[in-house]
Amino acid sequence: MAVGIFDSGIGGLTVLDAVVHALPDVPFVYLADHAHNPYGVRDPDDIYSLTTAAVARLFDAGCDLVVLACNTASAAALRRIQESWVPPEKRVLGVFVPMIEALTERRWGDSSPPREVRVRHVALFATPATVRSRAFQRELAFRAIGVDVEAQACGGVVDAIEEGDLELAEALVRSHVDALRRKMPDPQAAVLGCTHYPLMENVFRETLGSGVAVYSQPKLVAASLADYLARHPEMLGSGTNAAFLTTGDPARVSDQATRFLRRRIAFAPA
Ligand code: DGL
Repeated sequence: MAVGIFDSGIGGLTVLDAVVHALPDVPFVYLADHAHNPYGVRDPDDIYSLTTAAVARLFDAGCDLVVLACNTASAAALRRIQESWVPPEKRVLGVFVPMIEALTERRWGDSSPPREVRVRHVALFATPATVRSRAFQRELAFRAIGVDVEAQACGGVVDAIEEGDLELAEALVRSHVDALRRKMPDPQAAVLGCTHYPLMENVFRETLGSGVAVYSQPKLVAASLADYLARHPEMLGSGTNAAFLTTGDPARVSDQATRFLRRRIAFAPA
């Protein structure tokens, strides 16, 4: 049994850590497409081609279920993947829905009609491609009515994190939060809609202030994956080994990941 976790870079490791914690007996195969990172500045066709290639690699590694731990891939490619690409015996899930279910106070998988919810003003921080797709607003509209969403495309943050330039990443986060506040002065909730952003979560929280509820994906995705696998144990694939794979330079990516997650992580070539 093995489950695949995909991201364009090291951001999805924030999700991986949470799913390993929630499901310690499941071997996870993590694949990062560093050769093509960042995805957030690419167009939807490009993101679709790169994501399907990566998911196919994870199917080959013995995973029947792959989680796109990448909002950009989830926003720009997941629907097309689910509707016309994934073979019937495999599954590909994204990271948007668990977060929206939490925001709208629904139980995992609750597909009842949209209803009024407590939260009214939501700030979305995400990559330019995710913001352009409007996938967050679309998924939210299936579940809630009357929620005002202001989206901030956080250009440069993923690149700075991947380069290990935390000072630049921090300065960019502060300026993106300021830009958001000029459009929506008093958000009640903020969604960190990119799996790289939990690595800067303290800066988001501090800049937003304690009055804003911050929704960060890793724990939400882990809880929803545990629930999904309890309902669909047959989706645990045939693979037996956990692995970290990258299409980039394994030595460089291993150093970067080790520094961010504060434990030794050794990537191999994908
Ligand atoms: N972690 C990806 C996401 O959640 C980063 C996207 C990128 O490569 O720009 O959107």
